[in-house]
Amino acid sequence: MPDSTPAIDQAWINQIIHAIDQNLRPQDTAFQAQLRLALMDAHQVEGCPRASQLTAASKPGVVRRLTLLENHSRNYDLLLLVWPPGYRGEIHDHAGQMGLEIVLDGQLVFETFAVSPATADTAMTLLLLNEARQRPGDAAHFGGTQHAHRCINPSESQASLSLHIYSRHVSQCRFFFQDSMGNWQSGTCDLVAESPANLSR
Ligand SMILES: [Fe+2]
Repeated sequence: MPDSTPAIDQAWINQIIHAIDQNLRPQDTAFQAQLRLALMDAHQVEGCPRASQLTAASKPGVVRRLTLLENHSRNYDLLLLVWPPGYRGEIHDHAGQMGLEIVLDGQLVFETFAVSPATADTAMTLLLLNEARQRPGDAAHFGGTQHAHRCINPSESQASLSLHIYSRHVSQCRFFFQDSMGNWQSGTCDLVAESPANLSR
């Protein structure tokens, strides 16, 4: 576990929350293009953290999840994720939850997969649909139970940082892997998050 948690600029967090609140409407299907546009400059707003600020206390090779806002007072969760150099995430989904991911620092490769569940006659299949190279300001939507995704940090020397908005609280995800026979299987894993030092509850 990291031995300390960083502080994140509260004024920057407040600007992000304000931008989301102005562009997320209860009647929307949520996380649409308008919200994406509202946040595409988040990395240029004064106070935006840098990946290098958040890696000092990170465990090598482990993604760091920092909770900026849980959905106690609003209908979304807001997190920062710090991706170590060369990190290759597991393919996963969020049980139908909608979400938006925006790169703030460094680069990510965002892969999207189509998931066909197993039937009485056929095994589960995953098909790579899209592979997007993302730089600061680039974003990806995700959601539904027929799609999965993963993030890869393509840099072998630089950590990456991304902002994530989820339509409800996230404590678990479903991950996908191929067994020794090459068949796709799935399991669940718990998502552990830290609170930044200035947001500790
Ligand atoms: Fe995800």
